[in-house]
Amino acid sequence: MAENRNKLVHTFGALADLGQEVANKNNFQETIRTSLHLILGSLGIMRGGVARYSRFGHEFNMLAVRGLGDEFPLSLGLCYEDERQFLVNGLHPIDIARAKVLPFFQVYDRTFESTKLELMMPLVIRDETVGAVFLGEKATGDPYTSYDREIICAMGRHIGGAIAQRNMLAELERQASENRKLYENLRTTYKDTVKAFAAAIDCKDKYTEGHSVRVGKYSEIIGAELGWGEEEIEGAAVAGYLHDVGKLTVERKIINAPYRINAKESAELNKHPAVGYEILLPIHHPYTDVPLAAKYHHERLDGHGYPDGLYDREIPYIAKVVNLADSFDAMTTDRPYKRRRPAGEVFDDLRRNSGKQFAPEIVAAFFRGILKELDGESKDKRFRKLLGREYMESEGLAPMLKNSLNAMTPTSPLTMISLD
Ligand SMILES: [Fe+2]
Ligand SMILES: [Fe+2]
Repeated sequence: MAENRNKLVHTFGALADLGQEVANKNNFQETIRTSLHLILGSLGIMRGGVARYSRFGHEFNMLAVRGLGDEFPLSLGLCYEDERQFLVNGLHPIDIARAKVLPFFQVYDRTFESTKLELMMPLVIRDETVGAVFLGEKATGDPYTSYDREIICAMGRHIGGAIAQRNMLAELERQASENRKLYENLRTTYKDTVKAFAAAIDCKDKYTEGHSVRVGKYSEIIGAELGWGEEEIEGAAVAGYLHDVGKLTVERKIINAPYRINAKESAELNKHPAVGYEILLPIHHPYTDVPLAAKYHHERLDGHGYPDGLYDREIPYIAKVVNLADSFDAMTTDRPYKRRRPAGEVFDDLRRNSGKQFAPEIVAAFFRGILKELDGESKDKRFRKLLGREYMESEGLAPMLKNSLNAMTPTSPLTMISLD
């Protein structure tokens, strides 16, 4: 009686260990190996192995073996009938000697005999075969008792659970990676489409070649300087690329007029924000506010902009960003009736108009972005590439920007930007 109880305590101890081992999902191989050792150890079995079932390969692949020798195959093939029978059998030990009718046991008859395997248990978990446990004779030479078989079932359930969990995880990882790839593809397609659109818009306007692309880049720089996240920065770039999409419906001769356009032509041209909004609204953008940026990129803080004459807080933030980028590009590129203005003059204009046309913190962010490049703090020469080296290297730009920043942002003396 006492011996029986000891055995019970010992076995349940092993089962508890096994449960713990299975719960540790870090090293699957190790878990399976330990599980096998626990079964063999707790029942005094000489040798055995645990295999994982491959649905695609129709085979059992050995995950852990002990005492089966080098000759034992790493994979054991199954035919349809075997698979069906194992599933019907469920999670119960099969006596190998009495199961010779199944093709599986006929094929591996000699292998099982030479390794003295006595039991084979399909690991059937939630109506699915996930693997198998193979067990040799007991060290005592005694036959397996029904009690042993129950223990084997209980332990098999744990091991099968671990394999099923692993399979599920692998499947989830596969799906996640597939989704990631799909998403990346879609994102690339979207970005390419946006760029193609920007190129199409810019094509129409021969004097401001590359305008949309530059506005996209300036908006991106501002977003980054405002401390936005990666997605928002990308959204700012897209909003910049597409802000003038409404110009696609404006007559080419108005857009390309080599003179200052008259009131009627101007009214026609001024429809482009609203038209742009209509074009962009039905598109499902991965970023919010892209249509709003198009609609309100000609609004001003002081309410003197168009189309709706909105005031400061009524204007969507992204539209304020694009507005600055747009105005900056208009001032720094040659127009048919006007040459571009010197950099110093442009920065002065932005500073003077901050609070009137532009949001001060957006101007400040833009200045910081330019300053970082002038000071060599940021290595990519984006402004130099977009505006030309000479333009950006004109005298006194950096001190001027520093002065403006100090005057614009409420700072304590400690955070003043040094002028040296
Ligand atoms: Fe515009
Ligand atoms: Fe524009």
